[in-house]
Amino acid sequence: MCALAGTRIRAASLNPESLVKFVDRLPIPPLARSLGLRTVRGNAAVQAPYYRITLREIHAKLHRDLAPARLWTYDGSMPGPTFQMRRGEGALIEWVNALPTHHFLPIDHRLHGAESDKPEVRTVVHVHGAKAATGDDGYPENWCAPGKSATAYYPNQQDAAMLWYHDHAMGITRLNIYAGLFGLYILRDEVEDTLNLPRGDYEIPLAICDRQVTRDGQLEYPASGKPDAPWVPEVFGEAFLVNGKLFPFVEVEPRKYRFRIFNVCNGRFLNLFLSGQAVMRQIGTDQGLLPAPIEVERLLLAPGERADIVVDFAYFAGHEILLHDSSFDLMQIRVGKQRRSDDSSVAPATLRPFARIPESSAVRTRELSLMEETNMVAEPMKMLLNGAHWDMPVTEKPVLDSVEIWSFINATDDTHPIHLHLVRFQILDRRRFDAFDYQSTGKVRYTGPVEPPSPSEAGWKDTVRADSKMVTRIIVKFEGYLGRYVWHCHVLEHEDNEMMRPYEIVPA
Ligand code: C2O
Ligand code: CU
Ligand code: CU
Repeated sequence: MCALAGTRIRAASLNPESLVKFVDRLPIPPLARSLGLRTVRGNAAVQAPYYRITLREIHAKLHRDLAPARLWTYDGSMPGPTFQMRRGEGALIEWVNALPTHHFLPIDHRLHGAESDKPEVRTVVHVHGAKAATGDDGYPENWCAPGKSATAYYPNQQDAAMLWYHDHAMGITRLNIYAGLFGLYILRDEVEDTLNLPRGDYEIPLAICDRQVTRDGQLEYPASGKPDAPWVPEVFGEAFLVNGKLFPFVEVEPRKYRFRIFNVCNGRFLNLFLSGQAVMRQIGTDQGLLPAPIEVERLLLAPGERADIVVDFAYFAGHEILLHDSSFDLMQIRVGKQRRSDDSSVAPATLRPFARIPESSAVRTRELSLMEETNMVAEPMKMLLNGAHWDMPVTEKPVLDSVEIWSFINATDDTHPIHLHLVRFQILDRRRFDAFDYQSTGKVRYTGPVEPPSPSEAGWKDTVRADSKMVTRIIVKFEGYLGRYVWHCHVLEHEDNEMMRPYEIVPA
């Protein structure tokens, strides 16, 4: 970023610390309501609940003392309405693009898919973590412009988990999500039902994102300062929004609560903890329940990652607890003195059986490099997956129902959260290697021991932190559907600038 532009942005930016904290109640996104049953894809034998969600601009306050911010939302709220789905019960969702035709955040027309011959505002919805047919998955090039809509079918044939939906339009995903296009998609099943976890009012979703906000309360995307090349390699804001509010508070009873937490930041890794030594008991990962709860002092979540936690406030009656990220205050939790009724919910000692996929079942190992583009002329440095650009021929073509090991060789200085659409996977291990050697010889020379995943990520995942200078291995069964999907870095600035590739599941 050029120094001048930096100064200008800082001058107009709000210092969140100047606001009165904890004056807004934590918003809980509304539930999405079905409009009745509809026939699925002209097949009269199959009917599914039908939802219609309109993408539109609203103005809403991020904090009591700020002017309303312009936001782009699903159905008028940020986060959008929460879907409550049940395993095995499919749903049809029509996503109606009623956004303005002009974007309010700076488009970089040099980026693939965002060229000036394309409509400025485009959108396609992806349900992150969902198992959906390729045409329903939100392929980045399947966008639609304002005035159009697209209907997708979600079979919901997968374990209970907290998924989330968000925009995925080619070349502008980072701007659309920044503007507010995200929401929750909760899947439940019988296994979860039997566990007697806190539910109803005692289950609270927390969508956390950092934004840069102007003094008059508007979202500001920290662009490069060059009007023709506004893309920046990463974005960090100092204003943390929890369910769309800055410094909200939430009132709880002295009992157990379940929090479904997800990181909606463009590029920031969250490192969450509670004050007062309140213990977080993690019961689930991206793709559902862990085999058994684990206690976490700090919860590390990369963009796109989720955690399911239970906190027992029984010992904190009458106290206030803060949710922090590193040195930032995020939210105040006010624990009341009384419970409305007895707390019979539990965080049981065993949750859901989990079987490791044996490495021996893998038919193939792919070594995939994460590297900076070597062509130094391309001025803003971009990161590539296996040296390939988005539009190069598809190279990853796993066979349907086969198991593969994907080995991410990260030679860059950044951690990249790598996400695969359609599938869930398990993390095998990470291992330090000599990145310098690798860049000159193309060979991996390990310099450290094999490290197992942390207990907090030792369950089903769909997004994995590929740490800097480490080889991170995952094991995946490519089940569900044939066809084209994508895998990408979930740092949205990277994703929008070539750190995304198609992959294709092919028949045996
Ligand atoms: Cu969270 Cu490809 O997406
Ligand atoms: Cu996804
Ligand atoms: Cu990245």
